[in-house]
Amino acid sequence: MLEQDIKKVLISEDELQAKAVELGEVLTNDYAGKNPLVVGILKGSVPFLADLIKRIDAHLEMDFMVVSSYHGGTSSSGEVKLIKDLDTSVEGRDILIVEDIIDTGRTLKYLAELLEHRKANSVKIVTLLDKPEGRVVEIDADYVGFQVPNEFVVGYGLDFDENYRNLPYIGVLKEEIYQ
Ligand code: PRP
Ligand code: MN
Ligand code: MG
Repeated sequence: MLEQDIKKVLISEDELQAKAVELGEVLTNDYAGKNPLVVGILKGSVPFLADLIKRIDAHLEMDFMVVSSYHGGTSSSGEVKLIKDLDTSVEGRDILIVEDIIDTGRTLKYLAELLEHRKANSVKIVTLLDKPEGRVVEIDADYVGFQVPNEFVVGYGLDFDENYRNLPYIGVLKEEIYQ
């Protein structure tokens, strides 16, 4: 069903699982003895965050923010809107932002600045995917799962018009679907 709309699989389910294990080990080391606040950016980060936190062997807390910039299309509108804020106080905390993808960089630049302004002890970013060719503002993640080419990717949290987030892999959508 969903698979009919996919032109090619970019990152398989096995590769995604292996990456969660790999990044989880690195983060377990880097956050040893700390109590990080893991901040998932809804909605795209959900599948990656769910797999990643199970691989981090440290005390951590979890909270979520809702930000939106795409508004249903395939390209960013340039405007970032904060729709739901954290429930947890940020001051003095070690923040680990979890994202599915950095494209233009606008979402993460906005969020990283917001959380630093609230006097976090540290703000780091882990992103499953990085699309360097999409970058409009300067921001880099501290931890990156995979670099992806400048194609419209869906699955494992990433959507087209709110669909395809539930694919277990990352794929490239057929042009006829979004044209
Ligand atoms: C997507 C994606 C990232 C952001 C990346 O979220 O999940 O959060 O855009 O794009 P940028 O680097 O150009 O800012 P979106 O706003 O579509 O919301 P969603 O997570 O609910 O799909
Ligand atoms: Mn998102
Ligand atoms: Mg989206």
